[in-house]
Amino acid sequence: MSTNKPSEAVMILQLKVGDYKNFSYIVADAATGEAAVIDPAWEVQLILEKLKERNLNLKFIVNTHAHLDHIEGNASLSSVTGAKIVMHANSYAKKDIAVKDGGSLKVGKNAILHFIHTPGHSSESMCIIVNDIAIFTGDTLFVGECGRVDLPGGDANALYDSFEKLRSLDPKLALYPGHDYGNRPVSTLGEEIRSNYTLAKRTREEFVKFMLNESRVGSKEDPLSRLS
Ligand SMILES: [Fe+2]
Repeated sequence: MSTNKPSEAVMILQLKVGDYKNFSYIVADAATGEAAVIDPAWEVQLILEKLKERNLNLKFIVNTHAHLDHIEGNASLSSVTGAKIVMHANSYAKKDIAVKDGGSLKVGKNAILHFIHTPGHSSESMCIIVNDIAIFTGDTLFVGECGRVDLPGGDANALYDSFEKLRSLDPKLALYPGHDYGNRPVSTLGEEIRSNYTLAKRTREEFVKFMLNESRVGSKEDPLSRLS
C-alpha cells in the first residue's frame, strides 16, 4: 500500500490486492472526506478498513472496465456503503450510473473525475483523470506494459486509437495502473510514452501485428495469468 498526495485537494491511496497483482484505489476529496473507490476486488474488507481509518464517506465505485478482477468487490462494497456503481455505458455488468467518453463526476467539493473511453483491452475500458493530476489506466496501460487484446471484446485496432488519445494528454499526469506488472507501482504518462515498448511508434498495421503476436497473449489454462 502507498499513499500519495498529488495535491491538497485530493488524496489517492493505492492498495495492492488479491493474487493477480491488482490495484484498487481510494480517491478522496480532502475538503469533505467524500470518496470514490476505483476497481474494488478481492479485499473489500481492507478497503473498508482504509475508508474507516481516514474517516472517508464512500459515494462512488468506479470501474475502469468490467473484468472480474476489477469489479469482484462491487456488490459487497456497494451494499455495505450504499455507494453508486459507475461504469462505461458499453459494459454488461451491473451499474447505477453509465458514463461515456468526455463525461465527468464530482466527488465531494473539489475532486473531479473525467472519463476517457479507451477501448482495446475490452470495449468498455476507460481511463479516469482526476483533477488534471493523475490518470487511472486500468488494464489499458501498465507501467512498462499494456493489457492484452485477445479476450472477448478485445480489439488491437481500437487500442491503437486509444493510445493515440493517451498520447494527446498531459504527460505530467501521474499514472496509476490496474495491475502491478511493472518495475514500480506508479509512473507518469510522459515516462510511459517515452519508455514503454508497447507505446513505441508503430503504424497501425505494425501495432495490430505486435499485439496479436503469440508471445503476447496469456495462457489458455489461466487466462488471468498475464496482462489481464
Ligand atoms: Fe482486464
